Amino acid sequence: MDSLTTTASSTKSEAPSAPSRETLTITDNRTGKAYEVPITNGTIRAVDLRQIKTGPEDFGMMSYDPAYTNTASCISRITYIDGDKGVLRYRGYPIEELAEKSNYLETAYLLLQGELPTDAQLKDWAWHISHHTFIHESIKKFLDGFHYDAHPMGMMISTIAALSTFYHDAKDILNEESRRKQTYRLIGKMPTIAAFAYRHTLGMPFVYPDNELSYPGNFLNMLFRTTETRYRPNPTLERALDILFILHADHEQNCSANVIRGVGSSHVDPYSATAAAIAALYGPLHGGANEEVLRMLLEIGSVQRVPDFIKRVKAGEVKLMGFGHRIYKNYDPRARIIKRVAYEVFELMGKNPLLEIALECERIALEDEYFVKRKLYPNVDFYTGLIYQSMGFPMTMFPVLFAIPRISGWIAQWQEMLLDPEQKIARPRQVYLGHGTRDYVPMEKRA
Ligand code: CMC
Repeated sequence: MDSLTTTASSTKSEAPSAPSRETLTITDNRTGKAYEVPITNGTIRAVDLRQIKTGPEDFGMMSYDPAYTNTASCISRITYIDGDKGVLRYRGYPIEELAEKSNYLETAYLLLQGELPTDAQLKDWAWHISHHTFIHESIKKFLDGFHYDAHPMGMMISTIAALSTFYHDAKDILNEESRRKQTYRLIGKMPTIAAFAYRHTLGMPFVYPDNELSYPGNFLNMLFRTTETRYRPNPTLERALDILFILHADHEQNCSANVIRGVGSSHVDPYSATAAAIAALYGPLHGGANEEVLRMLLEIGSVQRVPDFIKRVKAGEVKLMGFGHRIYKNYDPRARIIKRVAYEVFELMGKNPLLEIALECERIALEDEYFVKRKLYPNVDFYTGLIYQSMGFPMTMFPVLFAIPRISGWIAQWQEMLLDPEQKIARPRQVYLGHGTRDYVPMEKRA
């Protein structure tokens, strides 16, 4: 970027008719000085504010942005969202087209490599991932140590973190070959660990991966196979899961993507960084929302009780889970696709009795001034729980079903961060408003 130009205090803002310059002029009314700051891609560099000082002792101006609501932390070429228009694209491809024409493994390749694979590239990619689906037998023992009612997200966080103790080569993060190997392992093993965690809660024997099956088909096999010699996934459910995986694969700088970038910026191995990202996803405001939506629908209990619940939401007593989004101020495009998939699953499995309650919540919310004014629309998590429940998943597995496909987005974000020469260890500033220096108070003199 061009170096910053500081102008004399007499510099005034340009008149509207002057030729436009890609700069921002800031006048500091404390000193009367004006500064001209370059604008690149619609942003100014926060560090360019540092020269704005009241005197030599002044540290310099910073920007204050709790929760990063208006701060770009990176340059990215992976996922694009236009929240006002409800647009989502991976590497330029609209999510609607990918959901219709692609499959999860191809989409994961696209996110990670930047281009859709050729036939040979896709076969090679799928082969490598399916040959990294097995987990070390010691990891099975590790899973066995969890209590029967342990939340599977807790099991995922710890087990993925534990993988770092098995693969020492993972520390070689600046080595492309090593990163590729860990990527195969992470994408391959996430479904295995998730399925084993699920079987552990049921006290059922683990089912080993079947490499002849598709990525979602094998996952269903490891979850639900009982006495069959060969598990044959239902094609409707297999495709529904594949579409859901595509929709959850990446979502630019969300909480967990920011976490994997932040934790990864210390150059820790990708398993430790992924464990941190799964932990971020677990929260009810992020990927844990799908589980909370179902609990909420169960609590509402009937269509007649929806208006009362909406009253409580408007009074600020509870949130309408599965509604609202930091970026989308329009219908989440993923929610639209999910609603269609839901009907396909219900046709096969029978209509989920909670659907009517969900539809009534949506109907009221889309008309009610509280939600309209705040631009609150259903997000990705509003309908997924209904599908997962109809497919036979317990509620605690819902966030896990979000985490499995998100691994491709996390690794893509992590890798982009590592390869970006502008990125360094993440370390925000603070505005300190605490005490100045105080003398230590001995115990006997404390109030
Ligand atoms: N129910 C009721 N009111 C809401 C909701 C909701 N679900 N979401 C936002 N609001 C209100 C909020 O109270 C605030 O009102 P006011 O201006 O009067 O204070 C206003 O809308 C703006 O909300 P915000 O909290 O400033 O928005 P945010 O960008 O900080 O939060 C959110 C985004 C997703 C955390 C939030 O909308 C929320 O908690 N939603 C419910 C949880 C949920 O569904 N999360 C899944 C998100 S999508 C999956 C993912 O990628 O994580």
